[in-house]
Amino acid sequence: MQAPELPSFDYQPQPYHGPSAEEVLRLRRQFLNPGLFLYYKQPLMIVEGKAQYLFDGHGRRYLDALGGIVTISVGHCHPTVVEAARRQSELLQHATTIYLHPNIAEYAEKLAAKMPGDLKVCYFVNSGSEANDLGLLMARAYTGNYDVIALRNSYHGGNAAGMALTAHRTWKFNVPHSFGVHHAIAPDPYRGAWGRDDPLAGHHYAADVKSLIDHATSGQVAAFIAESIQGVGGCVVFPDNYLKHVYEHVRAAGGVCIADEVQTGFGRTGTHYWGFETQDVVPDIVTMAKGIGNGAPLGAVVTTPKIAATLAQRIHFNTFGGNPIVCAQGAAVLDVIDREKLQANALKIGKQIFAGLERLKAKHNLIGDVRGKGLLLGIELVKDRATKEPAMTECAHVLETCRDMGLLLGKGGLYGQTIRFSPPMCLHQQDADFLLDVLDRSFTVV
Ligand SMILES: Cc1ncc(COP(=O)(O)O)c(C=O)c1O
Repeated sequence: MQAPELPSFDYQPQPYHGPSAEEVLRLRRQFLNPGLFLYYKQPLMIVEGKAQYLFDGHGRRYLDALGGIVTISVGHCHPTVVEAARRQSELLQHATTIYLHPNIAEYAEKLAAKMPGDLKVCYFVNSGSEANDLGLLMARAYTGNYDVIALRNSYHGGNAAGMALTAHRTWKFNVPHSFGVHHAIAPDPYRGAWGRDDPLAGHHYAADVKSLIDHATSGQVAAFIAESIQGVGGCVVFPDNYLKHVYEHVRAAGGVCIADEVQTGFGRTGTHYWGFETQDVVPDIVTMAKGIGNGAPLGAVVTTPKIAATLAQRIHFNTFGGNPIVCAQGAAVLDVIDREKLQANALKIGKQIFAGLERLKAKHNLIGDVRGKGLLLGIELVKDRATKEPAMTECAHVLETCRDMGLLLGKGGLYGQTIRFSPPMCLHQQDADFLLDVLDRSFTVV
């Protein structure tokens, strides 16, 4: 298939002299977790990244429209971020929080300044799963309650707590883990009972949370947790006012509200710095990871002084959380987002891509739905628009043909039927044109 040309980019990747993709695959198969999955029939080996682009071992360039699964927020190997990490690595790599260190304290102040309301106390961990685990502990310790409401179609991590909260059979092992966790109906306006044409959809979906509290718990709950847009579930955007109504029900039942901002934070939604702000709510606990560190193993939980005080009943310790290097990198990410106005860019380029995807939907029947905010977008593929039968084989095929043309995309949804776009927020207009052109050609073939 004829591929359009990638936008020009003044950067020469270093020559790669390491093992071949075939050799790496062999090593992976022999020595790594056999459950690891690969995206493409002919596995792609990435050895270098710069800004919104990735390079394979042969020096071929790809537009990265997945961003390391929503993790590369400001661009691959951003010089400011690299320099901050390098400088700190040369001075001190680790000491733990039993000693004072300026980075963790200054970074906490900087992160707290980005939060609304009374969300001012930061805890640093190493991943999103760990952040959600800690968020649950806080909620249970603070409220004295046990039951937790999460949503179907959610993803919150792969550890015991994350798996309990997650509601996707793909990611759940058949072992005991979900104690006290109940899953409410996913507020999905495309597949759910109430669509975008219903102005009360948010209210209706929220009523299921109230019903769940009344029927599945003692009437008192510890927490409600939700992603502000369901990412792994296929970029599901909740109807307006959904979280507002839910938060009222949950707080009336003695619970606190947790926003999982692992994918939606740090300006990615374009209109707001945090995804929950698009629903006009202020949570009691916010969990973060991925884009917070632009690739550093950094996660955070931010909460109110009142909730944090409960957790001081015992010692809560984390060896690596808030390590000097990741804090330096996290602080640099915050600076770059502001200095380079990446939130505004996510809004502008996100709108351009969204409009282009709507045009593709008008042209290709395979696209059942276009949705998302800023640079967190998705298109759900269906075999038939009336039955909405998921088109997973076609989705995998589109991913393959796009890769052949130099575009790397993500996949989500219960059946792997939704294409996900979450590129670094430094994406340019020409990249968006390229992305849409490649998709159009790919849909024409598929
Ligand atoms: C919304 C959300 N929460 C939590 C997690 C878990 O994060 P981690 O993989 O860093 O443990 C993920 C990971 O994909 C996620 O998308």
